[in-house]
Amino acid sequence: ETIEWDAEDAGKSGYDHYMLKEIHEQPTAIRECLRGRLNELTGRIELEELADIAFDGPVTFVACGTSYHAAMFGVSLLNRWGVPAQASLASEFTAETMPLTDDSLVVGVTQSGETADTMRALREANRAGATTLAVTNVVGSSAARETDHVLYIRAGPEIGVAATKTFASQQAALTMVAAALSDHRSRELIQSLRSIADAIQQVLDTSSAREVAHAYRDADAYFFIGRSLNYPVALEGALKLKEISYEHAEGFAAGELKHGPLALVGPNTAVFALVTGDGEEAEKTIGNVKEVEARGVPIVAVTDGQSDVERYADHVLEIPALEDVASSVVANVQLQLVSYWIANELGRSIDKPRHLAKSVTVE
Ligand code: G6P
Repeated sequence: ETIEWDAEDAGKSGYDHYMLKEIHEQPTAIRECLRGRLNELTGRIELEELADIAFDGPVTFVACGTSYHAAMFGVSLLNRWGVPAQASLASEFTAETMPLTDDSLVVGVTQSGETADTMRALREANRAGATTLAVTNVVGSSAARETDHVLYIRAGPEIGVAATKTFASQQAALTMVAAALSDHRSRELIQSLRSIADAIQQVLDTSSAREVAHAYRDADAYFFIGRSLNYPVALEGALKLKEISYEHAEGFAAGELKHGPLALVGPNTAVFALVTGDGEEAEKTIGNVKEVEARGVPIVAVTDGQSDVERYADHVLEIPALEDVASSVVANVQLQLVSYWIANELGRSIDKPRHLAKSVTVE
């Protein structure tokens, strides 16, 4: 007797899709990304890849898609720690719009290391004499070969077209890059980074994303809101959902809702609100949630229970209470799971969505 064996299924190690497998690989991916790079005693992040990196003036990030959302995350942290930084969509980047000098540092964030738009931007930066850094997952990729410095995110191979574990690893890697470039030393930050893997595991073990997906699978549109570090997560939540479910999904800075998108919400749209911590940012986002709730719009709160947002929510996706860098990484996992289960309910081709490619090699 022979046992039927399928290489494709074997690669999924029992999961129905690579995407779900890769979502579950995130605790391991994050630990790998951090390994040997954190010094708990001094509170320093030690990236030998960035040793002797010299720059003056704003740090410019170039990236596409999910990697662009990770770049936005890096920009926020650099700004927080006193280093001016900006992110440009690689397809919009030109040396005219972002004047570069010998002192400039340009960081290309690219999972594959092959995206044509990102490579063009990095080559242009090289020609302008800027120092270039690639933050990539693929060893020996074009981005790794053609830049002055390279930091590998060590997420392991990602097969699903929709980026999942590589986004989490980019968030962790860019937190380290931002801390290293700004010489930000903090034991709390290191503890926060260390807390991510277990917290993700807890979400994977307890998430009610599948029920939420079932409840909202027939919505007309899905909106995601967040502020500060949760803003790129809102954008990423929407991108993930549109990629794999083909449903209309948009992410907004929570404060922008009232400047236009509020006209779109109604009883058949779902609003996912990222509310973590108990500070002013959470309070303000709750204010935005109330504006939506008053119009009879269903609300799903992704929250760590530190604020009273649950009072205004129809469903809650819980995450552990963590410092904000960690919570934005962990909150995203709930959104990945919601996207996965909605796409699954709708019978979509989750690992290979229509019209999309894992690595886009044309401009
Ligand atoms: C494609 C993929 C996206 C990815 C983007 C950038 O569009 O489908 O998932 O975010 O390219 O890819 P990169 O390899 O540069 O991160």
